[in-house]
Amino acid sequence: MRQIIAGNWKMNGTLAGVAAYAAALRAAASPATLIICPPFPLLSAFASAFAGSDIGLGAQDCHANPSGAHTGDVAAGLLKEVGAGYVVLGHSERRADHAESNAVVAGKVKAALAASLIPIVCVGESEVERDAGEAEDVVRTQLTHSLPEEFTGLIAYEPIWAIGTGRTPTAADITAMHAAIRTALVAQFPKTGATTPILYGGSAKPGNAEAILALPEVGGALVGGASLPAAEFLAIAASARVV
Ligand code: PGA
Repeated sequence: MRQIIAGNWKMNGTLAGVAAYAAALRAAASPATLIICPPFPLLSAFASAFAGSDIGLGAQDCHANPSGAHTGDVAAGLLKEVGAGYVVLGHSERRADHAESNAVVAGKVKAALAASLIPIVCVGESEVERDAGEAEDVVRTQLTHSLPEEFTGLIAYEPIWAIGTGRTPTAADITAMHAAIRTALVAQFPKTGATTPILYGGSAKPGNAEAILALPEVGGALVGGASLPAAEFLAIAASARVV
């Protein structure tokens, strides 16, 4: 399987910028599976711009319910209808800014799967938790409670202290955590746990991508800031390999 390089645009980007960005991605012969996760209002434009290519498109959140009185929220089925194939769920910024608990995330994952979206479920410890030696326990708990009984999709390990900071864990720390996540997934999901891709996220950039993507059990990367310029995103993807 090719490694997966997913761009999380967060609350960035403009409609005016979609065409040039999509054209740059389409023109590149990337060794990775590429996915772009822009803000909701850009999904339709990206779906048109990516049509006929194998570039994936994802949203950054969905609601747990299929419809209803939830002002400002978006249903997974509508994301699918406008062309998304993926949805990022449980990102630490949503867990923090919107008080999303593991149980809330699990409900959203269920809704995404019901709408035939592929969830990209984020887990990761804070700096305090890592310093206390609790990182693996925290992540294991997130996996246990943020995923429904049946799960197919992607996991993104994103240490909170590495997001947007320019800091990254050591190769040994990433290797240990990805191994711990694999063990937990296999135990939790006998059918799918061995093959679920585990992405790394947190200050991934062209200068460190090759080293990170070479580590065992790293199925790709979830890229925030460095996904915004197409050239940087493609430079990261150029380090991808077949795993
Ligand atoms: P970053 O963000 O690459 O800007 O650190 C990653 C993420 O939050 O998904």
